[in-house]
Amino acid sequence: MTTTMMHTAREQALSVGAKREIAPRNVKFPFAGNTPRHWFDDDPYQTNVMNALSMIFPEGERYFIAAVRSLREYAKDPTLDAQVRGFLAQESLHRREHDAFNDWLRSTGIDVDFFYGVMRDALRVDEPITSKRWRLAVTCALEHFTAIIAEEWLTRTELRESAHPNVRPLWTWHALEELDHKAVAFDVYRAAGGTYPMRAVAMVLITIGFVGLAADFHTRLMIKDRQLFNVKSYLKGGWKCWGPRGYFTSLLPAWLRYFKRDFHPWQQDDSELIARYERELGIDVDRAA
Ligand SMILES: [Fe+2]
Ligand SMILES: [Fe+2]
Repeated sequence: MTTTMMHTAREQALSVGAKREIAPRNVKFPFAGNTPRHWFDDDPYQTNVMNALSMIFPEGERYFIAAVRSLREYAKDPTLDAQVRGFLAQESLHRREHDAFNDWLRSTGIDVDFFYGVMRDALRVDEPITSKRWRLAVTCALEHFTAIIAEEWLTRTELRESAHPNVRPLWTWHALEELDHKAVAFDVYRAAGGTYPMRAVAMVLITIGFVGLAADFHTRLMIKDRQLFNVKSYLKGGWKCWGPRGYFTSLLPAWLRYFKRDFHPWQQDDSELIARYERELGIDVDRAA
């Protein structure tokens, strides 16, 4: 591909992102009693990685909503303002559905409220000394994480099919919408005058914080699950997550993209991926939400 063609493809992807209509798909995911406790690959290690993420999401999403809302006045462009409305609606539905999923986890003996409390404290720790713009930079960094994890969920069949069919649609729906709105916080951040150094520093600190917190939650969940000394599961799950083609190891190039000065989430055009899963899930958007 010539340089001109590459530039054109990139501009096309950016304009697809800029014009995107973002609306929530208002759907409820019931969890019947026959969902196995180790619902991911029949494996405690990997299931508890996913459960740790689900403990993080609802409070994280509350933070994203507050951060974007606090600088919404900068979304003067009507399209971006409409995208913000869609973003807020999508994230609040994600909260509702992960709360419902976490209620099911609570019924298996997990102390969900403890994890929510830790999350609330972690996300409040810098509040007295930081600005709205900083909290939006943190949101952009975490939205990049959710977008690259979502991309992997939708493109790696093995990963998706490891989830029990009762649980898979929730995660696929969430992944789809994370890609849908992946640039909204970023575009508001830019409109609000957010700088490159601030977003790059936020990404470094958030990566340390996010990985540290997820590892802590994972260990606590493994203890509660009485699996802390399950060496076989640590070896299997550790390899699947952190091996050479591991679910997390593979995210490295996409994570690094964020540090390019001219980075924009829609340089990676996911519109076809979104359209494919929209058809597969068969859930319509709810424009009234
Ligand atoms: Fe979300
Ligand atoms: Fe999001």
